[in-house]
Amino acid sequence: MRIDILTLFPDIFDGVFNQSMLKRAQEKNIIELHLHNIRDYSTDKQKSVDDYAFGGGAGMVMMIQPIEDLIMKLKKEREYDEIIYMTPDTKVWNQKEANHLSMSENIIILCGHYKGVDQRIRDHYITREISIGDYVLTGGELAAAVVVDSVVRLIPGVLSDETSALTDSHQDGLLSPPVYTRPANHNGWKVPEILLSGNTRKVEEWREDKALERTKIIRPDLLEM
Ligand code: ADE
Repeated sequence: MRIDILTLFPDIFDGVFNQSMLKRAQEKNIIELHLHNIRDYSTDKQKSVDDYAFGGGAGMVMMIQPIEDLIMKLKKEREYDEIIYMTPDTKVWNQKEANHLSMSENIIILCGHYKGVDQRIRDHYITREISIGDYVLTGGELAAAVVVDSVVRLIPGVLSDETSALTDSHQDGLLSPPVYTRPANHNGWKVPEILLSGNTRKVEEWREDKALERTKIIRPDLLEM
């Protein structure tokens, strides 16, 4: 999968993309991450990328020109499955959507800043909008990093068997059951007997019950979906 990220602050991604799972996925050539600084595409003398909102009001709006030129350049080079815009004013991202997006070949992710991008970019180029939660971040970069992380770990070959995504919370629509490791007894706090029994069928049943129980208490809304 190739992921092109369009941003005014490419440095924000340094730490996230050069560590751990995302680093390994790139080393194994499972993903290619490309960061593009929107400002580099501004044809303006001052390299400006934003301007006042028509109609007034606080906050600047990201201009069409540099974003359009950058998207057009990328689209000439290859076909994209999705051109995504990160914004708090849309539906919230979830695991099901992560599963689906993980099957893409090429995606573009546009990170908004200030008051966001000129609506005409959204109307004419963006194929999908993603919010990571009902709160406002300073820009779309952290949200884009969250989406990239949640998608890339689902691509076959990225995670090892021990860290398989199949048993994650949300993967089957439920929260995960509790997990324990050694010691079996820590100052009297004992691990549930069943997990030490060696009976894999019983363990599986226990985990399913606990997952359902936790979901009912903490996130009953997940069971209504
Ligand atoms: N940009 C600012 N806040 C955001 C959010 N919650 N999700 C996605 N992009 C954003």
